[in-house]
Amino acid sequence: MGRVAYVNGRFVRHSEAAVHIEDRGYQLADAVYEVWAVFGGRLADAPGHFARLKRSLGELRIAAPMSDAALMIVLKETLRRNRVVDGQIYLQVGRGVAARDHAFPNPPVAPSVVITAKPIDLAASEARAAVGVGVVTVPENRWGRCDIKTVGLLPNVLAKQAAREAGAVEAWFVDELGLVTEGASSNAWIIDEHGVLRTRDVQANILRGITRGTLLGLMAREGLKVEERPFSPEEAGRAREAFITGAGTLLLPIVRIDGRPIGAGKVGPVAKRLRQLYIEEARRTAL
Ligand SMILES: Cc1ncc(COP(=O)(O)O)c(C=O)c1O
Repeated sequence: MGRVAYVNGRFVRHSEAAVHIEDRGYQLADAVYEVWAVFGGRLADAPGHFARLKRSLGELRIAAPMSDAALMIVLKETLRRNRVVDGQIYLQVGRGVAARDHAFPNPPVAPSVVITAKPIDLAASEARAAVGVGVVTVPENRWGRCDIKTVGLLPNVLAKQAAREAGAVEAWFVDELGLVTEGASSNAWIIDEHGVLRTRDVQANILRGITRGTLLGLMAREGLKVEERPFSPEEAGRAREAFITGAGTLLLPIVRIDGRPIGAGKVGPVAKRLRQLYIEEARRTAL
């Protein structure tokens, strides 16, 4: 069986899956999305992602396409049809299809829904996490509502490409005060020179990462010292360890920033332990 996608109420072959040319997600990036990590065929951090989806839709006044319970059934069915055990599932909800006009269609049209799922190679993910990866820094140039998870990701695309061309895996945006906001597709963390875990507070213009939230809970449980306070690339350069978090990477240690080593330039014990803890917790609580 080949890959299958869910598109506006139907399961279709992935190779033939398509949306209308006047879908507002396609023409205007008028759409939001969510990504869940999948362990054992179940969705990691499910309630957090459902809550953020509801919030993103609400902020943009896009109607929820179905109830959470119905959505869960469709997400699970997409996983089943793709035989995904460990992997990722992607959901996009857009304002719908209408003749191109910036303002909302009036009367409103049915929201568009697309779901895709893919397996991931957990062994390869572990191998990469064991070695760590590099980040580069890029100027923050995104809009002022990065708390909404929209598909308008062009600055993130360009940042990620800059990272790729520099032999790194992630790009960290740096704001006008010289402080890291977040990664192109992840939240940014350091363990500073005093041994304090630091990540930027969510009052700032960043995505409220669900993985980040779960980790904050685990860190509190472990009695680790955490401050939700921004850091500069220089502080990251002096840090003991650094890492990124997100549904795609889970927790991935960072060992270089702009080509220079962080700490000993190797994966440190705290990031390694936190990755294990997160994966155990995500597996245990997956729905
Ligand atoms: C810009 C950005 N920040 C942070 C994250 C991490 O969020 P989450 O942990 O909910 O996946 C993502 C994930 O895709 C992202 O795109």
